Amino acid sequence: SIIKVSIDKIYGILEPVDLELIKERVEVSNRMLSDGSGDGNDFLGWVDLPEQITPAQLDAVNDCAKSLASLAEVIVVIGIGGSYLGAKAVLEAMSDPFQLLHKKQDKPIVLFAGQNLSEDYLYELLAATKPYKLAAIVISKSGTTTEPAVAFRIVKEEIETRYGKAEAAKRIVAVTDAKRGALRTLATQEGYATFVIPDDIGGRYSVLTPVGLLPLAVAGINIGELVRGAQDMAKMTAADVPFDENPAVQYAAARNALYKKGYKIEILASYDPRLQYVSEWWKQLYGESEGKEGKGIFPASVTLTADLHSMGQYIQQGERTLIETVISVEKPRHSLKIDSDPDNLDGLNYLAGKRIGEVNLMAEMGTMLAHVDGGVPNIRIEIPELNEYYLGALLYFFEKSCGISGYTLGVNPFDQPGVEAYKKNMFALLGKPGYEDEGKLLRARL
Ligand code: PA5
Repeated sequence: SIIKVSIDKIYGILEPVDLELIKERVEVSNRMLSDGSGDGNDFLGWVDLPEQITPAQLDAVNDCAKSLASLAEVIVVIGIGGSYLGAKAVLEAMSDPFQLLHKKQDKPIVLFAGQNLSEDYLYELLAATKPYKLAAIVISKSGTTTEPAVAFRIVKEEIETRYGKAEAAKRIVAVTDAKRGALRTLATQEGYATFVIPDDIGGRYSVLTPVGLLPLAVAGINIGELVRGAQDMAKMTAADVPFDENPAVQYAAARNALYKKGYKIEILASYDPRLQYVSEWWKQLYGESEGKEGKGIFPASVTLTADLHSMGQYIQQGERTLIETVISVEKPRHSLKIDSDPDNLDGLNYLAGKRIGEVNLMAEMGTMLAHVDGGVPNIRIEIPELNEYYLGALLYFFEKSCGISGYTLGVNPFDQPGVEAYKKNMFALLGKPGYEDEGKLLRARL
């Protein structure tokens, strides 16, 4: 398989029978995703999405990306949650972290906005982009989310002031619902090019729609390969693939069996800082899908080995409610060896001739055994390397396993009713029309 899930390091904490007991349940959950018999079945468009993406659709995204890239040196991608994290995750995973130091930038720089309400963030973004030719992609399925709407108002104003309204319309692309929402109305009115987020695909499952594909294409990512990876993973995780060959059910079974035994926090660990935002994307996916009705594994993440010098202490010896799931990348993109030093003042000659990746791998193996010995069950997800194909496979694998996990837990993995509570309070406190009474009550409590 292109993704290998190893769950043998949960034994000792779980008995094989614990897993046996849940196997059937996860397979039923997988069937519920394919036959649409579960809750939230009007949000299952992502399940067969990879195989439904046509070359013409990819061409349309790539063409639009090319035209934006020809106009701009900096492209601001505006969105939050599922309308942001997928693109950010793949972009970070594929990027050279030091790209900005390279003199020649042959692709536009993609920056993100609308994922926070920090005044300084937006101010500094505007200030920093002043010398550069600018364009924007604004993404919101509902078209009414406050954070991206605020950021877009500011960035739109900047682009219009610089280039005039007509030229601005060529530099702004909107990704939103086919008909509903303020962003759709605005895009129609202003004459922006648009892409549609299908009705039956929720934000956190939308990375393979133009929500993720357009910003990635603009940054020069091969979206065809990303989709191909997802297509292959969709086949490998289909409901008729037996448990032992199906990584999505294996992962769902392991984490749900552990949850039943009181393991309530899952830490996604990676040994490459470029995967930090894959973890952020994963946290949203699992946290929003499972955390409801007083249930759900709390998703957390660490980047190792860095966090072994901070969170490592807790993981080794803190409360024993942790699951550690490691994304392990087999092959680094580059090769770098440690040389022998005649003086050996740092005492590192025992590493001479080894690649840094080998040292990292031994850190990973040693940490896994130490944490398992400390009472933290370990799940290992291996991918061969960080490229578009394997990332596409990984993202789809996590989506599939999340849907299965949610159904196994007994919740609707495709809604997020809890997200509304903060919005209501924020609107009331800001004096949005219709929230006056609520506003009075809340202000009295502050
Ligand atoms: O998964 C989800 O549905 C959410 O996290 C949304 O993606 C997020 O709230 C942004 O919503 P919208 O795209 O409507 O602006």
